[in-house]
Amino acid sequence: MDRAETIELLCAEAWRPVTEEPLGDWRLRAASGFTGRANSALAIGDPGVPLPEAIDRVCDFSHAHGIPPVVQAISGSETERAIEAAGWLPDTGHAAGHLVAVLVGPLGRGGDGVSFLPEPSAGWWELVAGTAEPTPAQRHVLTTGEIGHGVAEITAGAVRTAVVGELLHISRLAVRPEHRRRGLARALMAGAGSWAAGRGATECVLQVAVGNSPALALYETLGFREHHRYRYWVPAWKDRSL
Ligand SMILES: CC(C)(COP(=O)(O)OP(=O)(O)OC[C@H]1O[C@@H](n2cnc3c(N)ncnc32)[C@H](O)[C@@H]1OP(=O)(O)O)[C@@H](O)C(=O)NCCC(=O)NCCS
Repeated sequence: MDRAETIELLCAEAWRPVTEEPLGDWRLRAASGFTGRANSALAIGDPGVPLPEAIDRVCDFSHAHGIPPVVQAISGSETERAIEAAGWLPDTGHAAGHLVAVLVGPLGRGGDGVSFLPEPSAGWWELVAGTAEPTPAQRHVLTTGEIGHGVAEITAGAVRTAVVGELLHISRLAVRPEHRRRGLARALMAGAGSWAAGRGATECVLQVAVGNSPALALYETLGFREHHRYRYWVPAWKDRSL
């Protein structure tokens, strides 16, 4: 297994779907449609059956769980080439961006004005999920595991943190538009590093859509570099509404 695959498996541990079934080494995942990662088959390793059968199984699983069939594959991998050869297409309709950069970087330190809540607050939910009243699937995906609920300035900004292996997984970093460019994201990243250092993390990982220029600029200033990319794939015949 190469490092990109190892990182993907660790990131998957930080982002638990409601339902997961193994298909050989692959993971079939569903969470009522909340997020691409939790509602796609993670195609890492050997599915244990020929690829045409594997993608049929992805479709069957997706239909059984009421979500469109989607495969998440590392860009440029042999698996991605095989999926493309089978007639699948990049999921250009994926709202958050179908091509995602996985960045690694140093743990931050400090984080003035940032605190980690014992329980997620309404303000934290609003920032990380866009609602103060999360659905059961949102609650499951975003709070399963030992999760940090970081907030800056009483929720002008928020972040979700998890430690997987030696990696701090950062997700849902968000700052309210009227509070941007005041260093709050930088502070949240620093606070996240401090939160994780006591939990065994030595490095930080996060996923960002390749078109998200503000976030990419932020992470570059913090010393992150792109490790690899992944992409979401859908069958050419797929109807997004099922
Ligand atoms: C990305 C985001 C979290 C940045 O929050 P922020 O509090 O405004 O960021 P900071 O003020 O800490 O910025 C730190 C540095 O990052 C860079 N940066 C941040 N936003 C930028 C932008 N819009 N354009 C260019 N550079 C930017 C700058 O170098 C900035 O330093 P400077 O202001 O001294 O030039 C915010 O824009 C946001 O909430 N976006 C929507 C959610 C999102 O995309 N989250 C990331 C998901 S991976």
